[in-house]
Amino acid sequence: MNVSEAIASRRSVRAFQPKPVPGEVIRRVLERALRAPSGGNLQPWHLHAVGGERLDALKATMRDRMLQAPAPDGEGAEYKVYPDQLPSPYRDRRFAVGEAMYASLGIPRDDKPARLRWFARNFQFFDAPLALFCTVDRLMGPPQWSDLGMLLQSVMLLLREEGLDSCAQECWALYPQTIGRFLELPEGRMLFCGMAIGYADRGHAVDALQTARAPLAELASFHGI
Ligand SMILES: Cc1cc2nc3c(=O)[nH]c(=O)nc-3n(C[C@H](O)[C@H](O)[C@H](O)COP(=O)(O)O)c2cc1C
Repeated sequence: MNVSEAIASRRSVRAFQPKPVPGEVIRRVLERALRAPSGGNLQPWHLHAVGGERLDALKATMRDRMLQAPAPDGEGAEYKVYPDQLPSPYRDRRFAVGEAMYASLGIPRDDKPARLRWFARNFQFFDAPLALFCTVDRLMGPPQWSDLGMLLQSVMLLLREEGLDSCAQECWALYPQTIGRFLELPEGRMLFCGMAIGYADRGHAVDALQTARAPLAELASFHGI
C-alpha cells in the first residue's frame, strides 16, 4: 500500500468485528508513527493503548458513568470541541455529515433518543477491540495541538497498512475525570482525544456512510502556479 492508497482508504469506521488486534501490531504502528514531525521536535504527545481486560473495564465504567453524567454534557469538556456559533460553511459541513450518518442508520432527524443512543456507542468504542488515547501537557498551545493531529493521522494511515481501521474520537473530551482517573494522568496532562481501532464490520449499516469534501478550489489557492 502506498501513501495515496492509505489516505484514500482511510475513513472513520464506526462498526468493528470482535477480532482482536495483536499487541505487536499496535506496538509496530505506534513505533513507526512516532516519526511524525512536530514543531521544534517537541513530540508533545503521549499515547495510551488500551485493550483486553482493561478495555472491558473501561467500557463497563463508561456504561455506569453515562447514566450518572449522560452525554452530550457528560462531565463537562475541558476544551471546546467546536467554537460557539459555528458559522457557515463549517456548520453546514458538520450538519451534512451528521445527517448522512443517521440516514445510513435509518434514524430519523426528530428521533433524538435514538440519535443519542447511537452517539453513546462512541463510549463503547463502537465495539472495537482496541482503543487509543492521546494526551498532552496542559501548557501546550495550538501549534503543539496541531502536532498531535500529525501523529494521529500517521497512526491512522499506518493502521490501514496493517489492514486495520479506526475512528478518531474527540467525544472523549466530555469525560475528562473518568479518563484522567483511568489513565492515571498527572495533574499537568490533559486528554485530547480517543480512537477506536479494529477490523471494520463491512456488513453494518453505518459502513455505507460516505463523507464529502469541499472542492480543491474552495480549500486551496494557488499563487504564481
Ligand atoms: C480529531 C477528530 C475527532 C473526531 N471525533 C469523532 C467522534 O468523537 N466521534 C465520531 O463518530 N467521529 C469523530 N471523528 C470523525 C469525523 O467525523 C470524520 O473524520 C469526518 O466526518 C470525515 O469522515 P472520514 O473520517 O470518514 O473521512 C473525529 C475526527 C477527528 C479528526
